[in-house]
Amino acid sequence: MTTLSAAASGTFSIGDKTIHRLGFGAMRITGDGIWGPPADPDEALRVLGRLGDLGVNFVDTADSYGPDISEQLIAQGLKPYADDLLIATKGGLTRTGPNQWIPVGRPEYLIQQVHKSLRQLGVERIDLWQLHRIDPKVPADEQFDAIKSLIADGLIANAGLSEVSVEDIKAAGKYFDVATVQNRYNLVDRTSEAVLDYCTEQGIGFIPWFPLAAGDLAQSGGVVDEAAKKYEASPSQIALAWVLKRSPVMLPIPGTSKVKHLEQNVAAAGIELSDEDFATLDEAGRKAFAKSESSQD
Ligand SMILES: NC(=O)c1ccc[n+]([C@@H]2O[C@H](COP(=O)([O-])OP(=O)(O)OC[C@H]3O[C@@H](n4cnc5c(N)ncnc54)[C@H](OP(=O)(O)O)[C@@H]3O)[C@@H](O)[C@H]2O)c1
Repeated sequence: MTTLSAAASGTFSIGDKTIHRLGFGAMRITGDGIWGPPADPDEALRVLGRLGDLGVNFVDTADSYGPDISEQLIAQGLKPYADDLLIATKGGLTRTGPNQWIPVGRPEYLIQQVHKSLRQLGVERIDLWQLHRIDPKVPADEQFDAIKSLIADGLIANAGLSEVSVEDIKAAGKYFDVATVQNRYNLVDRTSEAVLDYCTEQGIGFIPWFPLAAGDLAQSGGVVDEAAKKYEASPSQIALAWVLKRSPVMLPIPGTSKVKHLEQNVAAAGIELSDEDFATLDEAGRKAFAKSESSQD
């Protein structure tokens, strides 16, 4: 049915590195509530060890995953790093307990966290560093200026943003070239449609988090379920294949703590949805999203 390589997802360039579009999110190789070590550290290391064989050369993490645990496991499991591997990390969210995430955007804090990530990952320069959240308590310009200085000092090669609007991207663009945007996006969550369109237009990488979701469309008889049967795939593989086809700048990073799930996710890169099936899924996803939005009014 599918080729088991992320290479089937096509490529995208960030700075001087070219990656396969289907990446890996390393948030799930931590404990419950993204807090502390994973329940099965050996399996987490096996997941990391499989990435290279599967052609996955784009790994997303953050200083706050664990905190520190995800970056430490990446260093433990992947060093010496392959030349074509691009590790993207983030900073700007502090952790006060399991499932708690508090933005702190003071420039000195962001700079400190970049130094910490460099040390944890064991690299001299971070390929892609993303501001995890713009801290509403700190002037955005100060946060962007700190990122500009980190690029000028050679500590980070490229910079991105997370959970931002088109206006935020334009404002940050006055300080540095925004390489990527990481917003929640999937077949049934289309909140960031305008941001995705802007990124596609501008050639900015768009990293959708929670890309596997298909909501009720995955239920028996739903369009995702129907497509899953047709393509001999699972509903989450169909959701991922749809996301990948949505835009050439799309860089999904499904996260898992299990080798079996990693292999299933990579297999989705080999699913070629027909234009007609893509359009049917697209329409159903938009309708499901509109319905969920109106029920919240
Ligand atoms: N920028 C942000 O604010 C932000 C927020 C959240 C996440 N992220 C990033 O985005 C990445 C992905 O987001 P996410 O982890 O929330 O969403 P996701 O990748 O869509 O879903 C992950 C969940 O699905 C399960 N899963 C993965 N593959 C599966 C499969 N083949 N079959 C069944 N279950 C499967 C995982 O559990 P198992 O471990 O059991 O497989 C996990 O519970 C994260 O790793 C992180 O790097 C960014």
